[in-house]
Amino acid sequence: MRKKIVAGNWKMNKTLQEGIELAKGVNEIVKKNGANCTVVLGTPFIHLTEVVKTVDANLIKVSAENCADKASGAYTGEVSAAMVKSTGAEYVILGHSERRQYYGETDSILKEKVDLALANGLQVIFCIGEVLAEREAGKQNEVVTSQVKNALFHLSAEQFANIVLAYEPVWAIGTGKTATSEQAQDVHAVIRACVAEKYGNEVAENTTILYGGSCKASNAKELFAQKDIDGGLIGGASLKPEDFYGIIEAYN
Ligand code: PGA
Repeated sequence: MRKKIVAGNWKMNKTLQEGIELAKGVNEIVKKNGANCTVVLGTPFIHLTEVVKTVDANLIKVSAENCADKASGAYTGEVSAAMVKSTGAEYVILGHSERRQYYGETDSILKEKVDLALANGLQVIFCIGEVLAEREAGKQNEVVTSQVKNALFHLSAEQFANIVLAYEPVWAIGTGKTATSEQAQDVHAVIRACVAEKYGNEVAENTTILYGGSCKASNAKELFAQKDIDGGLIGGASLKPEDFYGIIEAYN
């Protein structure tokens, strides 16, 4: 059975001290009440080492929110996949719409990042999703399948096993406007079919596909009950332990 994951994406929030407190809070609540899914904390680079030390590795995994598209060298300010791995983080979020939109990350840049992440033993949470105009034009399926194909379909089936997909309709991110469970399920089914066409049914059935975009405790249960939705990538609601646990709890 494929893995269920609830992953937080802190984005550019929390000082180091605040981040450690948040990680402690999540760790405590998960330890106390349990989790029927893999719990991941996606944090800024500077938090990674401390968050890895703070949480119980059996309960919580740690993820970066990005990595460089170059292996090493004279790239001032960048952080490589090898550096991320060396903190003890196990995952990296790549292709988030904010990276695509504000930092010009194209499919071909993302392809480089994916290759480096996998080569360094990280699991990739790869984000895809359409903007509002594309949704209104009925192009969401076309957009997400081309994002998947362009950045990921050069991978072998063995490599693809380390990819988690996250469908995040851009119009739903941070807007309070969640996709309906039916809208999300429809796109998730299209993504899974696209993976099946390339890698076969078994790989597709084993691929975890998360939903992201204003997911919160009040809508997580219904979203996660859809047959092709395997958890969530959570922004705003991952910044408080109780809010985040309210989503994890959807699987209890
Ligand atoms: P949100 O963000 O939950 O605040 O909408 C989700 C994301 O961007 O991953």
